[in-house]
Amino acid sequence: NRVEIMHGVNLDQLGRRDPGHYGSLTLAQLERAIGDFGHALGLTTRFFQTNHEGRFVEHLHTLDGVADAIVLNPGAWTHYAWAIRDALEIAALPAVEVHLSDVASREEWRQVSVIRDLCVETVSGQGVDGYRVALERIRRELSA
Ligand code: DQA
Repeated sequence: NRVEIMHGVNLDQLGRRDPGHYGSLTLAQLERAIGDFGHALGLTTRFFQTNHEGRFVEHLHTLDGVADAIVLNPGAWTHYAWAIRDALEIAALPAVEVHLSDVASREEWRQVSVIRDLCVETVSGQGVDGYRVALERIRRELSA
């Protein structure tokens, strides 16, 4: 099974962001770890990151027939980007929302997610390991 791993705005800056919230791995290191988690679960992972909302939306448009599921961390877009929500609905694939930090215990504006109800699960505050949890959830979803 093919899982598209999508990172949004500012996640290319991992390694320079507050390690207390986001850890110290760079995005390349994070993606390598996610690839290993996927491999161990028998899942093929492919990676995408952009800082441009329209590109994120257009990438979601391309996934039909290309991916079986999506793991996405849209960064701050999570909290207000209704166009990404609409595009995720169009993609119509099982999706898991991931956040490295514990968004529920941070600022109030981070506690809103416009994609949450389209996702089969939300994983937050577990750092890198959260992506393993997300992929396990995807595997369960795809084998159900
Ligand atoms: C984030 C949480 C968001 O609130 C923030 O804007 C990010 C990263 C996370 O992974 O914890 O950029 O999605």
